[in-house]
Amino acid sequence: MYFKNIRNCVILLSLSLLLVECSKDEKINYKLDGQSAGGETTVFLSNSQAFGTPAPNLSPEHLEMHLEGDKAFEAIFVSSPAPTHGGLGPIFNNSSCNACHPSDARASVPTNINELSGFFFRISVEGTDEHGGPKPVPGFGTQLQHQSLFGYEPEAKMERKYQTKEIVLSDGLKVQLQRPAYSIIDPYIELPENVLISPRIGMPVFGLGLLESIPEKDIIANADEFDRDQDGVSGKPNYVWDAVTETVQLGRFGWKAGAANILAQSAGAYSGDMGLTTSIFPVESSYGQSNGNTENGIIEVSDDELNAVTFYCQTLGVPAARNLDKEQVIEGSKIFEKIGCAKCHIPSFITGNNPNIPEISNQKIYPYTDMLLHDMGEDLADNRTEYLASGTEWKTRPLWGVGLTNVTSGHTSFLHDGRARNIMEAILWHGGEAENSKNDFIELATEEREALLAFVNAL
Ligand code: HEC
Ligand code: HEC
Repeated sequence: MYFKNIRNCVILLSLSLLLVECSKDEKINYKLDGQSAGGETTVFLSNSQAFGTPAPNLSPEHLEMHLEGDKAFEAIFVSSPAPTHGGLGPIFNNSSCNACHPSDARASVPTNINELSGFFFRISVEGTDEHGGPKPVPGFGTQLQHQSLFGYEPEAKMERKYQTKEIVLSDGLKVQLQRPAYSIIDPYIELPENVLISPRIGMPVFGLGLLESIPEKDIIANADEFDRDQDGVSGKPNYVWDAVTETVQLGRFGWKAGAANILAQSAGAYSGDMGLTTSIFPVESSYGQSNGNTENGIIEVSDDELNAVTFYCQTLGVPAARNLDKEQVIEGSKIFEKIGCAKCHIPSFITGNNPNIPEISNQKIYPYTDMLLHDMGEDLADNRTEYLASGTEWKTRPLWGVGLTNVTSGHTSFLHDGRARNIMEAILWHGGEAENSKNDFIELATEEREALLAFVNAL
């Protein structure tokens, strides 16, 4: 969100501070603690700006940096030559960060899969690259760019076909899940055989500085790769090549935790999603392809702009949880624990020290994720590995803000490709390590199920 003037912003900030003060007085039981989901970065808003508001505790200097970053996040890139924000493509998926993370939230699933949207395919062939990451498809790389500038050919088109899968809950409620199958059509050159496809949709970008600041040891403490406690839930860290530090690091971002930090994820987005070079990825993603760039070596996005957009994602505030004192919601929180949701969606962490951004340091947060990978079963599998993440493994999604999705985005699509049309469908797609949890959900009495959903919607 872009504030037209600082005054509005100050008014808003004072308002949220006031609300923070009130909520402090009202803290009467332990469950209410989770209301300040982002600690002091919490914004007490439940409208369409709930994901797109700066953390209220930013210093004036940091607020200014954040607002600069906001402009970078919204900047629409065009083809070169252009006085500003040129260099798009020539092949790409979309032309601004905001286009795929509208209102800093989740993109909607495109009706026509090939229109401009926040959805794309990551692709690769069997094997790994020199850093243990996905092996590029010759002539296509590791992401399918389905858009191109005038005079260029997109790499290919995507195809999606739905099949229905019916699940009957114990109280007789029938739910029709739509199971997508994906393929690639009309490639610009012959496509090698056995290309692996991982469909992905843009997710919310608030609260990410906090997730980046969780001490690694606190994440690892929850890992149980070989399920020694035999509860059916393991949880494993991804370790990925970080192009920023040129070292192997704990993966934290992306649906399979394939990126170690927000800077790498953002530089990767400029490169793969938009066809823009940065100091981190100076080579055009399409360089050497017959439909790609013939020139190379120009840095199209400056370090200043890259750092600004990164700072922006690091310092967006987290929306407060709502209704945590309602009886139904309290009941739902107990069921959430009882049926094992909290084994992966771990409620709370305390962030470590980030010397550059004290505002996000040492905060008690309620993201409801363990930041680890879990086998989610065949139904959700993309069958494509990403570093240590297998073809069935995905990172536990944070649940903070999920209940506001309809307000921020006008839809309620969830999961890595947006296939679930609401929270109940998202739960019913869970399998693998979450199979028991899902089955317990199916067995819930109607009121219990409604209580659980009320709790998730309160986050
Ligand atoms: C074409 C659509 C598209 C564009 C453009 C795009 N993104 Fe994304 N973004 C995605 C998708 C899809 C993912 C998930 C990627 C994955 O799982 O590997 C993602 C993931 C992210 C994440 C990780 C969030 C998390 O919780 O793990 C961040 C941060 C991010 N994008 C920031 C940006 C920034 C900054 C820009 C602009 C420089 C940008 N994105 C441009 C689609 C897009
Ligand atoms: C074994 C670990 C695990 C358990 C147990 C688990 N989840 Fe999840 N959850 C995940 C993972 C991993 C994802 C992301 C899957 C994907 O995108 O394909 C996810 C996604 C979700 C989403 C969608 C979020 C989004 O941003 O798209 C919701 C909602 C959710 N879980 C709720 C629940 C509830 C409620 C329970 C208990 C009934 C539960 N989960 C149990 C691991 C788990």
